[in-house]
Amino acid sequence: MDEERLISQERLLEDEGGEDESIRPLSLQRYIGQEQVKRNLHVFIEAAKMREESLDHVLLYGPPGLGKTTLAMIVAHEMNVNLRTTSGPAIERPGDLATILTTLEPGDVLFIDEVHRLQRSVEEVLYPAMEDFSIDIVIGQGSGAKSVRLDLPPFTLVGATTRAGLLSAPLRDRFGVMSRLDFYKLEELAAIVLRTSELLGVDIEDEAADEIARRARGTPRIANRLLRRVRDFAQVNRAASITLNEAEKALEHLQVDRLGLDHIDHRLLQTLVEKFTGGPVGIDTMAAVVGEEAETIEDVYEPYLLQIGFLQRTPRGRVVAPSAYDHFGWTRAEHSNG
Ligand SMILES: Nc1ncnc2c1ncn2[C@@H]1O[C@H](COP(=O)(O)OP(=O)(O)O)[C@@H](O)[C@H]1O
Ligand SMILES: [Mg+2]
Repeated sequence: MDEERLISQERLLEDEGGEDESIRPLSLQRYIGQEQVKRNLHVFIEAAKMREESLDHVLLYGPPGLGKTTLAMIVAHEMNVNLRTTSGPAIERPGDLATILTTLEPGDVLFIDEVHRLQRSVEEVLYPAMEDFSIDIVIGQGSGAKSVRLDLPPFTLVGATTRAGLLSAPLRDRFGVMSRLDFYKLEELAAIVLRTSELLGVDIEDEAADEIARRARGTPRIANRLLRRVRDFAQVNRAASITLNEAEKALEHLQVDRLGLDHIDHRLLQTLVEKFTGGPVGIDTMAAVVGEEAETIEDVYEPYLLQIGFLQRTPRGRVVAPSAYDHFGWTRAEHSNG
């Protein structure tokens, strides 16, 4: 709906021809940040390789753009196995999943993105597949139908989700490794911006990389996207390299403020303040006031606003925090009356 939106949406990525594979790190060593997750995965991968076994099933969860898909690719790469990629909504029938599972090679990584969106009937195929590397398929129809158990090669399921809480308990329990990705620190994001600049062949000052990092909402995908847009401005301005000044001018045009908030965040908070005296309001109300899906608010906008403390969760709903009033220069009285 919003053409100019910088926050990641798979829809927009597809418009741009998908995630740029040339900038994705392909080894744990090149993957910046998430130190604890990396350290653990490294141990589990090495141990599995030493035992010549497949890696235990891995669940990666966290907000969009933090590197879940990238990590899934890295796991396959580090294990020296094939990566097969699908997603929860793409698997329509149990038979579709059975087809995928029976064509895996030993040790392969099967990556299921948006794993919380698997249908129940599909999930049920997954349970024995994950637990015993086998599936039950029904052959024939009516009274002649019989169930046949099929062995599968050992494989690793890597599931990714923005909402671990939406996973059914039996599915969640079958993941041996669960890793939560958190928002990145500023210096990690700056390192990602510098790394991507180098891969893109763009000259950028450290201060400019820092500025992009500051406005990237803790999210590598947004950092990379901002860098691309800033590069466009610098190019058209015939700047030889991206200086802090170039970056700041471009970011202003992009309407991304000092904290990385864009016009949707702004409208969201402003409406809560003006129409609801700052809350508390429910997630559905928040979604309605900005014309977004509740799921988009919960996955994309709210986590960062909670992280920087502009929104607070209370038992009665979300409340706009005083720091948000300060940031935008709103006064409480003004808005609660109007
Ligand atoms: N730790 C990281 N280091 C460097 N680049 C990263 C890192 N994590 C993510 N990226 C980049 O950010 C983008 C989004 O990552 P992705 O794995 O697609 O996120 P997710 O699947 O969690 O939405 C990719 O272009 C990827 O190259
Ligand atoms: Mg992804």
